[in-house]
Amino acid sequence: MLVRNRVPAFHSLLASLGFRIFQRMPTVYIKTYGCQMNERDSEAVAAQLVGRGYTLVLDEKSADVVLLNTCSVRDLAEQKAIGKMQAMVGHSRKHREKQVFGYLGCMAQSRGSDLVQDGSGVQLVVGTQKFHRVADHVDALVAGRAESLVDVDSEEGSQSRLSEHLALNEGATRRQVSAFVSIMQGCNQHCTFCIVPYTRGRERSRTIQEIVEECRGLVDKGVREITLLGQIVTSFGRREMASVDGRSPFVQLLEAVHGIDGLERIRFTSPHPKGYGQDLIEAYGRLPKLVESAHIPLQSGSDRVLKAMHRGYTAERFEGIVAGLRAVRPEMGLTTDIIVGFPGETEAEFEETIGLCQRVQFDNAFVFKYSPRKDTPAASMEGALPEEVIEERHRRLLDVINTVGASKYDALVGRRMSILVEGVSRRNPARYEGRTRCNKIVVFSGGPRHVGQTIDVRIERVGTFTLYGDPAVLGLGLEEDLANGERGGRGVQVESVVLEEANR
Ligand code: 5AD
Repeated sequence: MLVRNRVPAFHSLLASLGFRIFQRMPTVYIKTYGCQMNERDSEAVAAQLVGRGYTLVLDEKSADVVLLNTCSVRDLAEQKAIGKMQAMVGHSRKHREKQVFGYLGCMAQSRGSDLVQDGSGVQLVVGTQKFHRVADHVDALVAGRAESLVDVDSEEGSQSRLSEHLALNEGATRRQVSAFVSIMQGCNQHCTFCIVPYTRGRERSRTIQEIVEECRGLVDKGVREITLLGQIVTSFGRREMASVDGRSPFVQLLEAVHGIDGLERIRFTSPHPKGYGQDLIEAYGRLPKLVESAHIPLQSGSDRVLKAMHRGYTAERFEGIVAGLRAVRPEMGLTTDIIVGFPGETEAEFEETIGLCQRVQFDNAFVFKYSPRKDTPAASMEGALPEEVIEERHRRLLDVINTVGASKYDALVGRRMSILVEGVSRRNPARYEGRTRCNKIVVFSGGPRHVGQTIDVRIERVGTFTLYGDPAVLGLGLEEDLANGERGGRGVQVESVVLEEANR
């Protein structure tokens, strides 16, 4: 770890004598870029800081400490975080505010001390294996004990050091119902386009017991749905545990979490298609809490491109997995990730992707424009495609995804569906929203007493990737809640930008 000490100053003298510079405990703003793993890491960091008395705020300008939890998966994600940081530092200088700025996570890991160079205004850089140290580092900077800190070392056992969650009434209303639990870190798959093995390191799994304890603690506090998280969850425990009667460690974990009383739903993300053995497909047949929803990254529908990407399956195998899942659970909601414009992708190969999407009929997909990443094998492959070709393929594939998605959503009108109510709607604060088991958001006129309840609604109409439901027609009177005008809970305090640059 790199620590640059401050030149002696009045407040560092005070700090060294144990005085705090702030009269009150400082406020913190955290913005998250990228995947749900990043969101979960931000939540754990927020929980650490709240545990030390810091207050989370939604406005970066009023925060004493500003942290950006970053993503490196595409260049755009990095540029967004850097642009945001520069704007915030500029504003802070102009108004002579004393703010501490820091980068956390994947870009912090890959760029390290470059991010604290003179003039950047950034004092803190914390990598992916050191999230559990953020509060100590922030304390040191706030107290003036250091001028800058860069902590990007690897750390044995770091996958088990982040189990704090925001106390349920301190964080988001949404989190009272649904929580993320990280089960592993890193990825050994080495897809040729992907920077994750470099930013997140090798696969390291927590123990089943540790994970179950964390889940049980959340359920005791009112959580009804848990999403198990990791970069490649289907590889969970491969190194540390044996298969039992043909059931992989991941399936054993699903069984153990399934046994928690009071837990209603289990989700997981992201799996690798290679991980869908018969044991996982069969698990859907016997574990009712495992919901009918899967996000299975396809990346390409061309076998040649899949091979060049080092994905380890063919298009036919992918379609076989989908058929297997739908045979066990016909209602399965299916989403995916696809990259267009991988080096050397021909028009015919791209059309194979389109064809596969038309056959599989995904409910939705994130479509990404290929972005060369530092040190990855694909970045030096022949056949880089012109920007216009990538743009055009992105648009064409999105059209297919949107058309198929719209028809799948339309088909749900008139259906009665069971939703787990998460809280006030993000789209319309006058409404509430819940999620179907197949992972579709349903907005409805609800009240605080529905939060955390599983209720049936009739789907009345469809918006863009949203359903509008009516519980009233099913005799779930809402007059009482609407009369007292309560909207329940506070908003999410950790701002996040989830894959926001995809599909644009
Ligand atoms: N360029 C474009 N998209 C990428 N992804 C990962 N690496 C790249 C890259 N270099 C996409 C993949 C992955 C998702 C999280 O991001 O589709 O599944």
